[in-house]
Amino acid sequence: MTEKEGSLTLPERTQEIAGKTFMGFIHDRNSQGNTYFSDRKEYLWLFKTHSSMKIDVIVGLQWGDEGKGKIVDYLATQYDMVCRFQGGPNAGHTLKFDGKKFVLHTIPSGIFRADLQNLIGNGVVIDPITLEKEIAELQSTGLSFLDRLFVAHKAHLILPTHRLLDAASEASKGAAKIGSTLRGIGPTYMDKTGRNGLRVGDVFAPDFMDKYQTLKEKHLNLASMYPAIDFNLEAEETKWFASLECLRSLQHVDGEYFVNQALDAGKRLLAEGAQGSMLDIDFGTYPYVTSSNTITAGLCTGLGVAPKRVGKVIGITKAYCTRVGSGPFPSELHDEEGEALRAAGHEFGATTGRPRRCGWIDLPQLKYTIMLNGVDEIAITKVDVLNSFASLKAATHYQIDGKETDAIPFEMVEGMPMSYREFSGWMEDTASCQQREQLPAALQDYLLFLEKTLATPIKYISTGPERQALIIS
Ligand code: GDP
Ligand code: IMO
Ligand code: MG
Repeated sequence: MTEKEGSLTLPERTQEIAGKTFMGFIHDRNSQGNTYFSDRKEYLWLFKTHSSMKIDVIVGLQWGDEGKGKIVDYLATQYDMVCRFQGGPNAGHTLKFDGKKFVLHTIPSGIFRADLQNLIGNGVVIDPITLEKEIAELQSTGLSFLDRLFVAHKAHLILPTHRLLDAASEASKGAAKIGSTLRGIGPTYMDKTGRNGLRVGDVFAPDFMDKYQTLKEKHLNLASMYPAIDFNLEAEETKWFASLECLRSLQHVDGEYFVNQALDAGKRLLAEGAQGSMLDIDFGTYPYVTSSNTITAGLCTGLGVAPKRVGKVIGITKAYCTRVGSGPFPSELHDEEGEALRAAGHEFGATTGRPRRCGWIDLPQLKYTIMLNGVDEIAITKVDVLNSFASLKAATHYQIDGKETDAIPFEMVEGMPMSYREFSGWMEDTASCQQREQLPAALQDYLLFLEKTLATPIKYISTGPERQALIIS
């Protein structure tokens, strides 16, 4: 008898074990052994159990910095593993608890939770220098985590010359620059898709130095086409090679097996997005984007998880909107209200320290990113930043050729006019609110309006940077 069910083929022979006749077995992807079953019903049940666990994901719905680090850190206790699936040290995820503040760039935000495993997935690009520094900083706090941190073999490496090329490319663009974080992200992903990149697994290969030299030569040739920039390559290379020792000493895994076996074993997994959906390479405000797929779909290729194994999708937005770097931002405020948002929200980049541009929440944008990501639940952060605003606005439509639309145009241009709806502010502190019903009435109205307009429930309401300043509704 041979039967096909999903991707599993039932074996033809029966087995006798401990005096019992078994009809066949399922190859157990977790233990790499076999689980035996005695009839087809049992087999179907086993098959279902083996493939039923899903991975949840948190994604940014704006231009990044929505507060992903805080929410991941909060939710992490409900999971067994947190996995980063794209981006690199361009990310800056801030966590605050017990009066301390941490900014993570490459290490997942589950790292502070005891017993929780953390994976840097294959879709991430790693700068060994930044990673070593981050590890040292965490260790200096007394945190022990190296037995819980895993790095996927197939993650690509950021070389010093990738950073050099990033800086040279940006310098050559002048006023049209992307506003990159200059962490070498774009050039590294270019080498990945161009099939020239170096991966974490390569650092163990005997011909690693040859591969490095070949890629470096290519980069230097490319760099010669740009105006010269100030970059001490020799010093950066020395640091880079020294940091490889740290990278080699970490726990390396085949990320795709690691993640799928964990799911098969019934573990609960959370994927942590970096950047935001409007910075997605395909669907963001191109070319003012980053170089990876920041949306839910990115987790499938960034971890090796099949689409059907994606579970709950949590989308994060601020109660207003920010952007760091260049590119269109139609609801941006260039006046004292924008300044007030920046001051109240401490809107300065967690990676580069640059002031973030501030404006009102953009609802067509959120409808678009909710659609792209398949968002099940919204987490809204920084509602407390609006506490001292007498009134606030939400951008409801773009105005294109004199008509209102809520579709994101092919080319979003700087200064595009938008229609707004105005709300009264609440002028009250929200720090003591533990439940949604305790929030000021005007804030509750604002949240309800957002839920209705976006047709998606707001499950998490963040009222401050600290871990516990969160209302579950
Ligand atoms: P991420 O990149 O999405 O993780 O976000 P960042 O860490 O770059 O930026 C979010 C900033 O807002 C950090 O400084 C957080 O500490 C802070 N933050 C997060 N949630 C809240 C909140 O509800 N209220 C306030 N006031 N600050 C918050
Ligand atoms: P987190 O994960 C906000 C922006 C840069 C620039 C553009 C391209 O903390 O939300 P890159 O260095 O990727 O080539 O820069 O993307 N950018 C971010 N903005 N938050 C981030 O990450 C960002 N990562 C990149 O400012 O405009
Ligand atoms: Mg950030």
